[in-house]
Amino acid sequence: MDRVEIRPARHFKGEFFPPADKSISHRAVILSSLASGRSVVKNFLRAQDTESTMNAFRRLGVGITGEGGTLTINGKGLHGLSEPSDVIDCGNSGTTIRLISGVLSGNPFFSVLTGDDSLRSRPMARVIGPLGMMGAQISARSDNRFPPLAIKGGALRPLRYEMPVASAQVKSSLLLAGLYCEGETEISEPTQSRDHTERMLPAQGADLRTEGLRVFVRGGRELSPMEMEVPGDFSSAAFFIVAALLVPGSEIIARNVGINPTRTGLLRALSMMGAAVEIQNAREMSGEPVADLRCTSPAGLKAVGLTEEIIPSLIDEFPVLCIAAAHAEGFTTIRGAGELRVKESDRIRAMASELKKMGVKVEEYPDGIGIQGAAGLKGAEVDSHGDHRIAMAMAVGALAAEGVTTIRNASAVGISFPSFFDTLARLSS
Ligand code: S3P
Repeated sequence: MDRVEIRPARHFKGEFFPPADKSISHRAVILSSLASGRSVVKNFLRAQDTESTMNAFRRLGVGITGEGGTLTINGKGLHGLSEPSDVIDCGNSGTTIRLISGVLSGNPFFSVLTGDDSLRSRPMARVIGPLGMMGAQISARSDNRFPPLAIKGGALRPLRYEMPVASAQVKSSLLLAGLYCEGETEISEPTQSRDHTERMLPAQGADLRTEGLRVFVRGGRELSPMEMEVPGDFSSAAFFIVAALLVPGSEIIARNVGINPTRTGLLRALSMMGAAVEIQNAREMSGEPVADLRCTSPAGLKAVGLTEEIIPSLIDEFPVLCIAAAHAEGFTTIRGAGELRVKESDRIRAMASELKKMGVKVEEYPDGIGIQGAAGLKGAEVDSHGDHRIAMAMAVGALAAEGVTTIRNASAVGISFPSFFDTLARLSS
C-alpha cells in the first residue's frame, strides 16, 4: 500500500465513525498502568502509535490484554513498575516518549527510550530540562537533545515551571512526574494546549486543579483504576470534514467525535472561512464533550489570516487546513506555527513542497505558510514524508483536484488511522 492513487470525487457522502482519539488512548494506557488495580478501556485506538505505548508498559511489567477496541489493564500502582530488561522502542510516537519520560523520572531504575528515524530527530530538551530540575538524571544523544534517552529516575522535587511553548506533551510529562513528588508542582503554558490529562487524572483521584493556564498537581496519592470509553478522534474526522467542504454537493456525518474546545480550532478557522459545520447530539463521554458533526459543501471558502493564539487548538489539523486554504478565494496566512517544523515531519516544509507539486503558489515562512487559493489543484505524484497527517491531507487535496494523484509512502496512515483509505473510498463516488 505504499503508493495509493486517488481520483477526483464527484460526491462525498455518507456517515462514518472516526477511529478512537489517539491522545486519549495513549493516556488511558499510561494512567491505567499507574493505577492500582484493573481498568477497562473501551473503543481504544488500535494503531501503530498506541501500540507503541502498550508495548512500552508491557516492558515495564504491566499486564495489558484484550481484543479489538476493548483493553483490560492490570495497573501496578505508581510505584509498581519494574525495570525494563531492554530498550523501549517508542516508534514514531512523540506522545509515548515524552509522557513516559515523566513517568520514568519518578521510578528508581534505569531505562532507555528510542524510536524511529523521525522520532530520533525530534527535540527532547523541552522535557529533559524541567525533569532534570525535578531531580531526574536524563541524558540523550547530541548534547542531550535527541533520542535515545537514558533515564535514571528516583526521588523528585516539586517544580514551578513556565513552559516557553504551549505543548500538551510537555505539560503532561511534567504532571506525571508531579504525581511522584511530595508537595505541589505548578505548570503554566503561554496558550491553552489540549487538556485530556487534566480531565482524566482528577477522575482517578489525583489531587490536580487548573486555574486558567496554570495546572497544579500534588503528588503522593495512589490513582484509582478507570472504566472509560474513548471518543472518536476529531483530528482524524478533520480530513473528511474538509473533504466534504471541498467536493461540491457533499454531505457527511461524522459520528461520536470528541469536540473538546482545546482540539477544535479547525472548526473556528473554517467558520471564519465561511464554512459551517453543524454540531448535533452534543453529549459527554468519559469526561469529554462529544457530538455528531454534519458537514456540507459551502458556496465557497474565503482566505483567512491565522496567528499564534489559535495554533495549539488546531496543531494537528494544519496539513488539512492548508488543503482548505488552497481552495479558498484569496491568500491565506498561518503564522506563529513554528512548532509544526518539529512534528512527525517538518509539516510547514512538507505541505509547501507537496502543494507546489499540485500547482499551488505557496510562500514558506520560518513560523508558518502563505497559500494562494482557488487556482485549482492539479493531480501529481506527491509524498507523505513518512508522516500520517501529510498522507491524509494530500489524499483530501487529491479528491478535489483535476486529474489523478499518486501518494507515495501512503502506509504512514497506519500511525493513527489504519482504515483511512477504506473510509475515503466508501464515502467518495
Ligand atoms: C499531543 C500533543 C500535541 C499533538 C500531538 C499529540 C498529545 O503535541 O501535536 O499529536 O497527545 O499530547 P505537542 O504537545 O508537542 O504540541
